[in-house]
Amino acid sequence: MTPRRPSQLNRLSAFLILLAPTFTSAAEITYAEHIKPIFREHCLKCHGEDQAKADLNLETFATALKGGSGGAVLIAGRASQSLLFNAITAADENERMPQKKSPLPAAQIEIIRQWIQSGLRESPASSSLVVARDTRFKPAPIPTADGPPPMPGPLPAFTPAPERRPLAVIAMAASPRAPLLAVAGHEQVRLIHASTQALIGCLAFPEGQPNVIRFSRDGGVLMVAGGKPVHSGSVILFDVRTGRRLTRIGDETDAILAADLSPDQELVALGGSGKTVKVYGTTDGRIRYKITKHTDWVTAIAFSPDGTKLASADRAGGLYLWDPSAGGILLALAEHKAAVRALAWRSDGRMLASAGEDGLLIWWDAHDGWPAINHPNAHPPLRPSGYFGKLANGVLALAFGPEGELLSAGRDQHVRLWNVAGQAVKSFATSPRIPLQAAITHDGAGLLAGDEAGSIRQWTRAD
Ligand code: HEC
Repeated sequence: MTPRRPSQLNRLSAFLILLAPTFTSAAEITYAEHIKPIFREHCLKCHGEDQAKADLNLETFATALKGGSGGAVLIAGRASQSLLFNAITAADENERMPQKKSPLPAAQIEIIRQWIQSGLRESPASSSLVVARDTRFKPAPIPTADGPPPMPGPLPAFTPAPERRPLAVIAMAASPRAPLLAVAGHEQVRLIHASTQALIGCLAFPEGQPNVIRFSRDGGVLMVAGGKPVHSGSVILFDVRTGRRLTRIGDETDAILAADLSPDQELVALGGSGKTVKVYGTTDGRIRYKITKHTDWVTAIAFSPDGTKLASADRAGGLYLWDPSAGGILLALAEHKAAVRALAWRSDGRMLASAGEDGLLIWWDAHDGWPAINHPNAHPPLRPSGYFGKLANGVLALAFGPEGELLSAGRDQHVRLWNVAGQAVKSFATSPRIPLQAAITHDGAGLLAGDEAGSIRQWTRAD
């Protein structure tokens, strides 16, 4: 039998991943029942008790975990980081296992992947090697000390430039304390009442296109970051009640693509095509430190709600957690294979969600970087009948609600609501448009999506 071409294999495994829920559920996959038979059929001749090529013996659970001459070949929860998984899925025939044979059937590859992802269980009797993660949500109080929920009063007068057509909703945020939405427009930010959708007013942003909009945790400050491509970029902090500009931070030579305001409002972190995360003090506007580890454009930045961590991600799939006081690295979260499009912290700070062009949606345990919930294809693209080309995949936006629920928006023209256990509980179609942004209102009742044509759609959780 001639080896199957890798492209065929990839297509087949992509297809099987879609069918994955019909398999044995991932948590039930064990070495004894499912994995050993696959190894016996394809691997033990060269990696067994008699002969252990590269010192790798897959005959027992213990020796498989021990790994080979190059160290461990299995990393619980991280198929893409596991040498064994990379060996069986290698595109290059000379690198692929089993050596000099056709690749494993896609269904077996998927079983091995799920075994790794679910924590490398030994047998049905043994408990999971890696303790099942508690993904439950513990609400953290939202600061309410400074009076009534911040809503805009009279705003500075401003005549927006006439719009030929509405700008795609490239940035949008919901206030964590008030029925208020902030939405990107042409050189402006529109403030919209989240219940009535009435336009309350506009804030001028002559700096260019607003690429990122964030409310402070108390809802009193609005951060707007963006600029003009290959020209200039900066971050403006606005007072939500008065619309007044509080400060301007950064003086970049390109539009800012990612930014966030620390929960204590002391720091602004920003990044973009310069591949550098720059962290500024808001009081003096001076740079505090730079993070230069990213190898591609910085696409997403988010401070944890308690301010103890800073997450940043890039166009090549790199994702890191930093110590925000000085920029030291805490964890590298390697799982994404393509641009990370969104990062969101759950309000209790225990989970960081990431999503990207590779279709992956991951909830990371912020404590140790464990990918507690991992959806390889959270927004599977729809295949138009008669179309056989490559389909655009991708999760484009994320937003957590007040009870730990997550809203995601994807290229499959759907917005999806996930519960704290990572199960999809609601799905809303936005076709024929692609939703670019997602938000949940402060009370958790309204689910919002902003699309490529500039319109905003709203659903309620009861829909
Ligand atoms: C025909 C013999 C043969 C078969 C069958 C075979 N391997 Fe290998 N394997 C080798 C040899 C030889 C090496 C070391 C040389 C190399 O890396 O090319 C190796 C290396 C490896 C390594 C790297 C170990 C390290 O520490 O560097 C992994 C992982 C691996 N094999 C997994 C598998 C798996 C999983 C299977 C079954 C799906 C399999 N192999 C089947 C011969 C084989």
